[in-house]
Amino acid sequence: SNGSSYSVTDSIVADDVAGGSSSDTTDWSNDALSVVVVGASGDLAKKKIYPALFALYVEGHLPEYFSIFGYARSKMSDEEFREYIGGSLTCRLSDGENCGDKFDKFLERCFYQPGQYASEDDFKTLSGRLTEVEKEREKAHRVFYLSIPPSIFTAVAGCASTAASSPSGWTRVIVEKPFGKDSESFAQLEKELSNFLTEDQMYRIDHYLGKELIENLTVLRFANLVFEPLWSRQYIRNVQVIFSEDFGTEGRGGYFDQYGIIRDVIQNHLLQIVALFAMEAPVSLAAEHIRNEKVKVLRSMKKLSLDDVVIGQYRGRSGGGVEKPGYLDDDTVPEGSLCPTFASVAVFINNARWAGVPFLLKAGKALASRRAEIRVQFHQVPGGLYQDKLGHDPDRSSNELVMRIQPDEAIYLKIINKVPGLGLNLDVTKLDLTYKQRYNVHLPDAYERLILDVIHGDKRLFIRNDELDAAWALFTPILKEIEEKKIQPETYPYGSRGPIGSHYLAAKYGVRWG
Ligand code: NDP
Ligand code: BG6
Repeated sequence: SNGSSYSVTDSIVADDVAGGSSSDTTDWSNDALSVVVVGASGDLAKKKIYPALFALYVEGHLPEYFSIFGYARSKMSDEEFREYIGGSLTCRLSDGENCGDKFDKFLERCFYQPGQYASEDDFKTLSGRLTEVEKEREKAHRVFYLSIPPSIFTAVAGCASTAASSPSGWTRVIVEKPFGKDSESFAQLEKELSNFLTEDQMYRIDHYLGKELIENLTVLRFANLVFEPLWSRQYIRNVQVIFSEDFGTEGRGGYFDQYGIIRDVIQNHLLQIVALFAMEAPVSLAAEHIRNEKVKVLRSMKKLSLDDVVIGQYRGRSGGGVEKPGYLDDDTVPEGSLCPTFASVAVFINNARWAGVPFLLKAGKALASRRAEIRVQFHQVPGGLYQDKLGHDPDRSSNELVMRIQPDEAIYLKIINKVPGLGLNLDVTKLDLTYKQRYNVHLPDAYERLILDVIHGDKRLFIRNDELDAAWALFTPILKEIEEKKIQPETYPYGSRGPIGSHYLAAKYGVRWG
């Protein structure tokens, strides 16, 4: 592929997987494509979805006959909507290049239809407008992106499938998290959605799977000889998956309080990373083969115990010229809320490859820095030839592989090296692959990659229902226990490294957080 043509053969697809989603291998670049963003007046649409669609357009990944319809209750004309959404579209693909022409052309293909979420009639009106713009082509395909609160997922899926699915081509639906709050509500949601959508049509987004470094994880493991043989309990001492943000829930407190950090980040984003990290080699790169391996990892996880979970909540900080609010200072947060804004959890995978290796997951808001990374610490070299030079602290004398997911994407391996010169002094240094030094390219946003995959019918980076079932089975009991026992989160100051308890948890497994 030349990277700019529009063909489903661009992606690695497989149509021979029994019971799986049928990746679309036909080239339908001459058909019409309509993308409907339901909830187009919202935050995610403006911040992520439209900019991603625009970038795909600029890069030549949308077919010639595409149109994008915003749908929400807010009353706006096409023109008003273009003005509203246009403000968030920047030409970030090519710094300095004038996207002016493309900008106007893109907006010309953007339309807006106001309507209610539970009204079949309104969706019929929408469908009429879609048909109108699609009529240039014989065949048209439709993507519905549900960028709306979960309370209305089912109503919208129902109306979209009954009153607005494509009469001539395929219809696919992108669903955003939260996928329920626990095993029961997830099962209920699935049951409701399945009245209207087949598993094949449903694309459940976990946007972490669309991040460059996460997609590379499988390549790193299975395309290089040097890592995979070491990828087990025999050589790996522990794995840390760390997510931290240097801002609080400002503005999203109302949503956040119903979920908390375990459901918001750990149960989905971090657990998905562990599944990819720890899975066996898939039979092929087909979506079903990869997801089969991931779900096995999730199902092999040892039941969580409260002793292996630390929760925290940030408090305000003032002094030194900074004034930062605590979580409870947010007006949208209920008084006295015990909702965790930080959690660390030790999980274990009970299989031959990983038994006994702690996977420490940590996620928090309002911490000292914004970063996400995977840190793999290896055992010390047996035999101790250089032990007297290195000392006994394994953190200073063993290898560590770090994958920095963001910001400043990088992969580096800490090695022990001889300091050049006379004598024998050893040093810990890095073999460093920093993306912005090695690759002079713009890294696509996760949403760009994921929306393109939906268009291509490629489900490798989307979550299958049994994966979610397993993820909820792991976390539901512990979430219930935390809530029923009203466990108090340990408070930590805004901008700090998190609660002390998290360091004790790591120390219990011989780990110092990286
Ligand atoms: P918003 O709260 O901004 O909602 C999107 C739109 O839905 C609103 O513009 C509004 O449109 C409509 N809406 C809002 N509340 C209600 C309600 N109670 N009943 C009916 N309609 C309502 O959501 P986001 O854009 O932030 O997120 C969309 C989805 O994506 C959610 O499922 C969210 O959990 C998920 N998500 C969001 C992320 C983010 O960064 N924002 C990150 C990851 C996931 P109108 O009033 O015009 O109809
Ligand atoms: C979302 C969470 O899924 O991921 C947010 O709901 C979080 O709370 C966000 O801020 C982080 O995404 P990113 O891509 O900015 O790391």
